[in-house]
Amino acid sequence: MDYAQTGREAQARIESAADLDALEALRVEFLGKQGSVSGLLKTLGKMTPEERKEKGPEIHGLRETVSNAIAARKDALEVAALAAQLAEQTIDLSLPAPDAPTGSVHPIAQVMDELAEIFADLGFAVASGPEIEDDWHNFTALNMPESHPARAMHDTFYFPDRDAQDREMLLRTHTSPVQIRTMLDQGAPLRIIAPGRVYRSDSDATHTPMFHQIEGLVIDRDIHLGHLKWTLETLLKAFFERDDIVLRLRPSYFPFTEPSVEVDTGFSFVDGRRVVGGSGDDAGHSWMELLGSGMVNRNVLIAGGLDPDEWQGFAFGVGVDRLAMLKYGMNDLRAFFDGDVRWLSHYGFSALDAPTLSAGVGTPA
Ligand code: PHE
Repeated sequence: MDYAQTGREAQARIESAADLDALEALRVEFLGKQGSVSGLLKTLGKMTPEERKEKGPEIHGLRETVSNAIAARKDALEVAALAAQLAEQTIDLSLPAPDAPTGSVHPIAQVMDELAEIFADLGFAVASGPEIEDDWHNFTALNMPESHPARAMHDTFYFPDRDAQDREMLLRTHTSPVQIRTMLDQGAPLRIIAPGRVYRSDSDATHTPMFHQIEGLVIDRDIHLGHLKWTLETLLKAFFERDDIVLRLRPSYFPFTEPSVEVDTGFSFVDGRRVVGGSGDDAGHSWMELLGSGMVNRNVLIAGGLDPDEWQGFAFGVGVDRLAMLKYGMNDLRAFFDGDVRWLSHYGFSALDAPTLSAGVGTPA
C-alpha cells in the first residue's frame, strides 16, 4: 500500500470539505474507531518487528498528515464562519436609541426648591424638625397650653401611646414647632425657613391629610411688621415672577403671634385660572387668602429661651401646595398625592432642566 498516496488523497478530500459537518464526517471516516487510518494502526500489532520497523513510521506519518489536515481545515472553516456572521450581523450605530422612561420632579419639590432659592438670596438658612412631634413643641411652647381652644382648630393625629419620656406624641400640624427647636438650638439672631410635611385629619378637594408648609422666622433686634411685609412682597414677586403683586394685611389671630396678620393677595381669573397680580379692589380682581403671619408672641420667645425685651421677630407659614397650584395652574389638590404617572409626567419638571428663577431676588433696576 502506498501510504503517501493515501495521505495525499485524504488531504485533498479534507481540504475540499464544504463545512464543519462534512469535515466531522471525514474525521470519523479516517480517525474514528472504525476509521480507515485507525484500522491501519491496529495492523501494526500483528506485524513482525521488522515489518513494524518499516511500516510503523509510514502509518504514523499518515495519521499525522490526516489529523493535521483536519485541524487546518477546521481552523479555516471556523474563521470563514465567523467572518460570515460578522458580515451578516452588523450593528447600525447610527440608529437612535429608544427613549428610556425618566422620572420627573414633583411640582411640590420644584416649588420648595424655588422658595429655598429665593430665601437663600435673602440670607435665610434652611432648618428642619421631626414630623412626629411632641405636644409641647407643637402646641404648648407656641402659646397653646393644654385646653387652649386654638388646639381644637387643628384636627390633630395623636399617637395612642406616649413616648419614653411620657410625652403625648402627634404628627405635627404645622411647621411652627421648628421655630421653637431652632431658637433653642441656635439662639438669636435667626433668619430661617423650614419647609416640610404637616398633617391634619381633613380631606376634601382643597384639603389633604398631609400637606406642605414653609415656615419663616426672623429674630433680631428692632424687627417690626414692615420687615415682614417687605419680605413677603419680595418673596411673592420673585416666586410669581411679576412686579404687580399687591398684598393686603388683615388683622387675625394666632396664639403664637401678636399682632397676627393674615396676608391676602389680589388675583383675577384668566382663561378660568386664578392668576396672582394686581389689587383685589381693581376691576375684575378679588382678594385671596395666602398665608398666616405676625410678630412672634413674647411667650414663644420665652419658650425658645430668648429674652423678649431684647429680641423681636416675625414669623409666617405658607401652604406650599397652594402656591404650586397657583403658579402652575393645577386645580385639584388631591391629584398631588395620587402618584398617577400620567399626572406626574404632565405636571412634573425635568430633573435636568427644571425652570429656575432666572430673575432671582435682585434689587430692581
Ligand atoms: N402655623 C400657622 C398655621 O399652620 C401659620 C402661621 C405660622 C401663622 C407662623 C403665623 C405665624 O396655620
